[in-house]
Amino acid sequence: MAEAQVTVFSVAVDAAPLAALTHLLDDDERARASRFAAVRHGSRFVAAHSALRLVLAAAIDLPPREIRIHHGSTGKPFLPDYPGIEFNLSHSAGHALIAISPGRPVGIDLEAIQGDINAVALSERFFSPAERAELAALPAEQLIPGFYNGWTRKEAYLKGRGTGIGAGLDHFDVTLAPERPAVLRADRREPDAVTKWSIADLPAPQGYAAALACNGPTPAVNYRTFAWS
Ligand SMILES: CC(C)(COP(=O)(O)OP(=O)(O)OC[C@H]1O[C@@H](n2cnc3c(N)ncnc32)[C@H](O)[C@@H]1OP(=O)(O)O)[C@@H](O)C(=O)NCCC(=O)NCCS
Repeated sequence: MAEAQVTVFSVAVDAAPLAALTHLLDDDERARASRFAAVRHGSRFVAAHSALRLVLAAAIDLPPREIRIHHGSTGKPFLPDYPGIEFNLSHSAGHALIAISPGRPVGIDLEAIQGDINAVALSERFFSPAERAELAALPAEQLIPGFYNGWTRKEAYLKGRGTGIGAGLDHFDVTLAPERPAVLRADRREPDAVTKWSIADLPAPQGYAAALACNGPTPAVNYRTFAWS
């Protein structure tokens, strides 16, 4: 079997032993956690970022609190002291996903599925013309899964690139129909990107959708449940 090039940890943030975690965070993370209006949201932030530090600590053999995490100009976190370790985090409601890879930039997205959204109306706002057409052609029962396929794949790609949504959302197209493989179909700003980036769906907890973007060919993914103990 091929060696995993990306490891993805599924983190149940609401199950975190919070009292044992806060000391793992740096000053900036603690300050961010304290700014959430709802205690629950602050707790989830602490849990997700603690899990991230524990995953990174195991990869680079350093105590979690001592890891320096910096952010690029558009917000993508990185390890200034370990440029070969690529990672990304996504959290939504009570879960988080962490992707870590030796050397291949990655982006990950997790979304809690809301079954009552107007997928077609939202696609007008967030999707490219080709993606809107693909969604609109789906039968009614596939609109929600199709929409979340598109959303998570787009977000994962943007996060892999590190550009964030400031760079716009309609200059590239992903597939989204449930029976089609996950593919970056076009990037009109950087046509070569279709051969340089791969997109893959991930297993997600019940009620969530998730996708991974990775620089290079489709990676072997080692999908693991994060253990708090
Ligand atoms: C910030 C953004 C990168 C992701 O936001 P999000 O989907 O709300 O949140 P996620 O949980 O998936 O990701 C957040 C994490 O990604 C990381 N991140 C932040 N900026 C990033 C960037 N530019 N690139 C990659 N990762 C980034 C951080 O670890 C962040 O965690 P933190 O906020 O707890 O520090 C950005 O793309 C955004 O604002 N998205 C808004 C959602 C949207 O409109 N999506 C349209 C998709 S079609």
